[in-house]
Amino acid sequence: MPEGHVLEFAGVTKRFGPVTAVDAFSARVEPGVVTGFLGPNGAGKTTSLRILLGLISATDGSATIGGRRYSELTHPLQTVGAALEASSFHPGRTAANHLKVYAHAAGIPVARVDDALGTVGLADVAGRKVGGFSLGMRQRLGLAYTLLGDPGVLVLDEPSNGLDPEGIKWMRGFLRELARQGRTVLVSSHLLAEIQQTAQAVLIIARRRLVFQGSLGELTEEDERSTLVDAPDREALATALSRAGMSFDLLRTGFTVRGVEPTRVGAVAAGAGVALSSLQRRGPALEEIFLDLVNGVRVHTPAAPAPTEETPPAGAAPADAEAPADAETPADAETPADAETPADAETEEQR
Ligand SMILES: Nc1ncnc2c1ncn2[C@@H]1O[C@H](COP(=O)(O)OP(=O)(O)OP(=O)(O)O)[C@@H](O)[C@H]1O
Ligand SMILES: [Mg+2]
Repeated sequence: MPEGHVLEFAGVTKRFGPVTAVDAFSARVEPGVVTGFLGPNGAGKTTSLRILLGLISATDGSATIGGRRYSELTHPLQTVGAALEASSFHPGRTAANHLKVYAHAAGIPVARVDDALGTVGLADVAGRKVGGFSLGMRQRLGLAYTLLGDPGVLVLDEPSNGLDPEGIKWMRGFLRELARQGRTVLVSSHLLAEIQQTAQAVLIIARRRLVFQGSLGELTEEDERSTLVDAPDREALATALSRAGMSFDLLRTGFTVRGVEPTRVGAVAAGAGVALSSLQRRGPALEEIFLDLVNGVRVHTPAAPAPTEETPPAGAAPADAEAPADAETPADAETPADAETPADAETEEQR
């Protein structure tokens, strides 16, 4: 199995004349997980990736793959597979011929062409000219190109653009599988939702600089989380919570207990002999946090040492995408576990 490598951006700055596209960007990308490279349009994602891939040079700083610059790699295609946005293909060439050209140039066995096309679901159209390909088919062909050398590092710039829902789902599973094999997978996107379901780690770049690096779970502070709890006997539950020194608000859907994990709330209820009808973890909407980080309203403070309770893995954490418990947070991102309409719950809270 090909080896993943650490990618390192060290103080990368890029100026295009008067425009500073990236400013002292430093980040580290580890193998074995999918890392999302997130930022709004114009934040500097593509520029940073182009520097990493040796397509343009940095004005200052350096970007390395396993400690080496791209230009120093002995077998670049076998080390890093990269697909940047707006990949251009020769329209008159078939998909298979397109890949064969690169395979020949890089000393990769031609059999890899069929493997790569098969992996991305283009085996049936291998003999068709690329000029007639749809956007989604071109994206898949770009991905086949990255896989040609069976590299340990994959760098993909907005790979889901133009893919249909089935294609997006396939891409997510595919990237996670590549990471599970120990490869380094760096995927950029301007959409949090895209990254949220795929990436275990995230880099967020905004206004040309890194504003966050960590897991999605670490984006939310412990004290911003809360628990939504309800019981048929609300009076008994309220008494038990008060006795335990927990402060709470009553909504139509139950009680919101701020800054307390569900396990503690459940234990208090059990201790008081109160049967519960629901118990859910709530967190602020990630989308709100992302926008605040990007707009500079929020500055991330590094997460506290790992809590004793289990924190859900960021890549597969629907809990993190849950409803904002905060009255200031709009209800539109809610995904309640119960049948109650979230908007109602929030409206009631705001009253
Ligand atoms: N070749 C160039 N010449 C001049 N300015 C450039 C060039 N390439 C990028 N820029 C500028 O650098 C900034 C960052 O651009 P970049 O393409 O890296 O952003 P991005 O994060 O990839 O955005 P998007 O989400 O839209 O793809 C932008 O202000 C852009 O206009
Ligand atoms: Mg871009």
